[in-house]
Amino acid sequence: MDSMATQQILNQGGVQRRGVVDRPPVRIRSATIGDLFAIHEVHQSAFDGAEGDLTSDLAIRLLTETASPAVVSLVAEEDDLVGHVAFSPIRRAGTREVEGYLLAPLGVKRAFQGKGVGAALVEAGLQHVARLGLRVLLVYGDPAYYGRFGFSQERAASFIPPYKLRYPFGWQAHTFDRGKSFVRPHLIECSPSLEDPALW
Ligand SMILES: CC(C)(COP(=O)(O)OP(=O)(O)OC[C@H]1O[C@@H](n2cnc3c(N)ncnc32)[C@H](O)[C@@H]1OP(=O)(O)O)[C@@H](O)C(=O)NCCC(=O)NCCS
Repeated sequence: MDSMATQQILNQGGVQRRGVVDRPPVRIRSATIGDLFAIHEVHQSAFDGAEGDLTSDLAIRLLTETASPAVVSLVAEEDDLVGHVAFSPIRRAGTREVEGYLLAPLGVKRAFQGKGVGAALVEAGLQHVARLGLRVLLVYGDPAYYGRFGFSQERAASFIPPYKLRYPFGWQAHTFDRGKSFVRPHLIECSPSLEDPALW
């Protein structure tokens, strides 16, 4: 049988299988140092040009950073790594008080986008921060995407970022008391890997 015919049968089988059996869910697990190159690849695929370099470098710096509490790096895998997200602790500036985490960066390989991988990574991070009993998860990204997870600009107003933002509308927070308790606006400190104005 020629390879074209074999490929057609495989393709048909794939379609039939998808119709009958659900696609297995993507697996989310903690990243290890062995994932370093694959994580770099994820962000190079997800982001264009210079943004790809900036983001993949950030992902690698966070993976190797020793912080307390620890940076949380999660990967999504099917056969290969298809997505990555990092959550790094944030403190009230000038104190040791850990208030929550910042979600950055998040990337899903281009060919795997739009299949729920990004959502699975964000949800896993939300659960992690909720389990730690912390106040807030911050993000600097597109409100059209993060709004669906309960992030809002209003709630982020209490947490003043360490650098001037190029896109202030992208600064959003998910608060775990649903924004019930008022927090006086104050400056926050991020982990050393994020101390780069180019990221903001
Ligand atoms: C943004 C990203 C992480 C989302 O991951 P994903 O696995 O593709 O997303 P999901 O499958 O969970 O969700 C898909 C939905 O998000 C929407 N979406 C994806 N990227 C979006 C964006 N930048 N702004 C608004 N909506 C977006 C899709 O249109 C889709 O909407 P629908 O559910 O109404 O059809 C991924 O597309 C990606 O890596 N993009 C390039 C890098 C990037 O922009 N990272 C985020 C930094 S803020």
